[in-house]
Amino acid sequence: MEPVIEVERLRKVYAEGAETVEAVRDASLRVAPGEVVAIMGPSGSGKTTLLSMMGCLLRPTSGRIVIAGREVQALPERDLPAIRQLHVGFIFQSFNLFAALTARENVQVALEIKGVKGMEARREAEALLQRVGLGDRMRFLPRDLSGGQKQRVSIARALAGRPPLILADEPTGNLDSRTGHQVVALLRELAREKRSAVVVVTHDTRLADVADHICHLEDGVLTGAGNA
Ligand SMILES: Nc1ncnc2c1ncn2[C@@H]1O[C@H](COP(=O)(O)OP(=O)(O)OP(=O)(O)O)[C@@H](O)[C@H]1O
Ligand SMILES: [Mg+2]
Repeated sequence: MEPVIEVERLRKVYAEGAETVEAVRDASLRVAPGEVVAIMGPSGSGKTTLLSMMGCLLRPTSGRIVIAGREVQALPERDLPAIRQLHVGFIFQSFNLFAALTARENVQVALEIKGVKGMEARREAEALLQRVGLGDRMRFLPRDLSGGQKQRVSIARALAGRPPLILADEPTGNLDSRTGHQVVALLRELAREKRSAVVVVTHDTRLADVADHICHLEDGVLTGAGNA
């Protein structure tokens, strides 16, 4: 099957004054539609760096990134927002919700950015929130939601517009273990149902149970990406 994303010998070297950090070294990976890949590794091993490059938030030092058949690593900066909007949904550990907007509005805004208008955006936001089990929390502000509920809003938002690629950076990091498990199970189900490719960075070994594939990152070196 044609991968949703393919990265080949991806490298990132950060230069901080005289210090350089080789955060990711020649990582290769491909992820197919409907597949969940977990990336595990200790703090500082380069997980967020790798994910950020995959999501076109950070430019690699060298290597290739192909998203939906298109090479993106060398595109000019002005083209990247459109690539992200069209192809990528992000889920962060810190939720990144707008504090002044309700759960529904947080999802609706993401749809509107993607060109879905008015009532249609509203209906779709409601359907997405229903899907993540928050049908009775649409009008709540983030501060009135639990951690797991906030994370589910951010998942609903990441799914807005059905991006083929979902990138999640420690989506269970701030959750208790039971809630974390629910979020993990939800990501698994959604990958199957929507045929999105999901790449999830985690310290959480339970995620291993639901991933189709587990990669390990150690000191910038990715192993276990057997299908690359
Ligand atoms: N903007 C930056 N400038 C310089 N070095 C950086 C920058 N961002 C990250 N690094 C370095 O790159 C390495 C990898 O960082 P990264 O954030 O990718 O790790 P991580 O695996 O996500 O860690 P954690 O599990 O703690 O989130 C670290 O040594 C870090 O200090
Ligand atoms: Mg990180």
